[in-house]
Amino acid sequence: MHETFGLTGSKSQQYAQLLQQARGLLSGECDRIANAANLSALVYHALPSLNWVGFYFYDGNELVVGPFQGKPACVRIALGRGVCGTAAVTRQTQRIADVDAFPDHIPCDGASRSELVVPLFRGDELIGVFDLDSPETDRFDADDQRGLEEIARIWLEASA
Ligand code: SME
Repeated sequence: MHETFGLTGSKSQQYAQLLQQARGLLSGECDRIANAANLSALVYHALPSLNWVGFYFYDGNELVVGPFQGKPACVRIALGRGVCGTAAVTRQTQRIADVDAFPDHIPCDGASRSELVVPLFRGDELIGVFDLDSPETDRFDADDQRGLEEIARIWLEASA
């Protein structure tokens, strides 16, 4: 059993602890579904004010929902659509302070007010996206973005 949570100290100290927990959780395991499931659960329970944390995987045509924590979500998202599809096409993390102001936001859980989506690429190959929703407007700042991009990188490096 892995010891998790109990993050303490400054935000950067808390992310350092979370990253260490993520590395421990994924160490020695390369199954991408198992790692996505456990990482979603870790992040969902470790960080405050989140209502959805999970993965969408690219199936060669569109994004398909993978392991997550939160309410049931839309299953398929076309590339270029929504915050997730935009992250996949632009290859840039999308940090959306107010989803209602994002013209093409796809509402899955009506409680979501802000969202952060990290694209997952291996070289030029699109693997999917790592998506986090919050019921708070402007929940994610630049420190969160850096920390969660690093979490995504840990998943990419561990998972086949
Ligand atoms: N809001 C996302 C859809 C996925 S849910 O947030 C889980 C989007 O606009 O792509």
